Amino acid sequence: MTAGLPTRRPADRPFDPPEGLAELRAQRPLSRLRYPDGHVGWLATSHTLVREVLSDSRFSARAELRHLPFPGALGGNEPAPPGIFTAMDAPEHTRYRRLLTGQFTVRRMRQLTEQVEVITAEHLDAMERHGGPVDLVDAVAQPVPAQVICELLGVPYADRARFQGHALDLFRLDTSPQQVGQAYAAVQQFIRELVATKRAEPAEDLLSGLTATDLSDEELVNIGFVLLGAGLDTTANMIALGVFALLTHPEQLAALRRDPGIADRAVEELLRYLSVIPGTVRTALEDVELHGQRIAAGESVTVSVPAANRDPARFPDPDTLDLLRPAGGHVAFGHGVHQCLGQQLARVELQVVLPALLTRFPALRLALPAEDVVMRTDTLIHGVHELPVTWQV
Ligand code: HEM
Repeated sequence: MTAGLPTRRPADRPFDPPEGLAELRAQRPLSRLRYPDGHVGWLATSHTLVREVLSDSRFSARAELRHLPFPGALGGNEPAPPGIFTAMDAPEHTRYRRLLTGQFTVRRMRQLTEQVEVITAEHLDAMERHGGPVDLVDAVAQPVPAQVICELLGVPYADRARFQGHALDLFRLDTSPQQVGQAYAAVQQFIRELVATKRAEPAEDLLSGLTATDLSDEELVNIGFVLLGAGLDTTANMIALGVFALLTHPEQLAALRRDPGIADRAVEELLRYLSVIPGTVRTALEDVELHGQRIAAGESVTVSVPAANRDPARFPDPDTLDLLRPAGGHVAFGHGVHQCLGQQLARVELQVVLPALLTRFPALRLALPAEDVVMRTDTLIHGVHELPVTWQV
């Protein structure tokens, strides 16, 4: 029995999954896990089992059923409020998902891609003007995804700095629970006002598009929140950690510099290799036989994304970063009906930002020894607090 989901990464291998997961995957890929609230549930660590759990409708994502494995998290949640579809099952989840998928049109994605290019160039210009060293998290990794979410939701230019400030406060680590509460209230109020504006004067953005459906104001506000919560810190950490991984793997960096055309494959491999989300949870709605064991109704199963993405049965030599490998089939965006709704947008952001950064700054390097980069060890999403970089020759 493992007590608590392993979260400690090896100090000398900051990109590797938390310690203990590889042994579990090799010996007991479906093992018992004691959750912080005392619940005795399960932990799935192999690629096959993770995908099986996530694609089986006998496992529920409902908030009120699940026990959370993350340190400090307690179970016993209430049902998800209207619009928080991440923690719902069919048919409620299906309804929201359909309405939202209908908004991620080819046309909107094309427009967003152009905007990602413009936003990225603006931030690289500012970085160049500032001169090195700069903190890449502050200069690029956080503001670019924040601006992209603004584009998606249609936040007017004049309000963006205020919105971005509140939104980033939600993910800051040096704030008290009270300050997080205030940031939460500020973001909610902001989105509420935004919804009212979009209802009165619909524009070209996704939120305006959703006002033309039968969704209520409360649902729209909560959906705005879900998109922000799911799309900002994840993408920001993938950018920062992706750059850190490239700068510490010179031969991989050289390959991407030589041929930016491999960016699509490189991004898939970075998503697999870095697996910034530790996992997700489902709860058995009925007794389920899995991997020769019986999961009883009401028991929660945590699926480990980092363990699945480093499974040697699925990815040969899994602990090597190899930008040219076929990394498709990774579960960095989850799997099944809750698979990441924003994955195409996240891919576009990574495929634009990484090559643009390397092209603009051919001598880009860390401004401190790699072992001095402070990893985020106390947050759900894996990443770095700061990434000081420089480019002067
Ligand atoms: C590299 C960046 C990202 C990563 C690694 C990531 C990862 C994930 C994962 C693993 C899930 C599945 C969670 C589960 O099954 O419980 C998920 C769901 C989701 N993601 Fe992402 N995500 C990223 C970026 C984004 C962006 C940019 C957006 C939106 C703009 C977004 C919106 C969502 C939403 C709405 C869901 C819930 C889908 C549902 O429950 O049906 N994500 N994401």
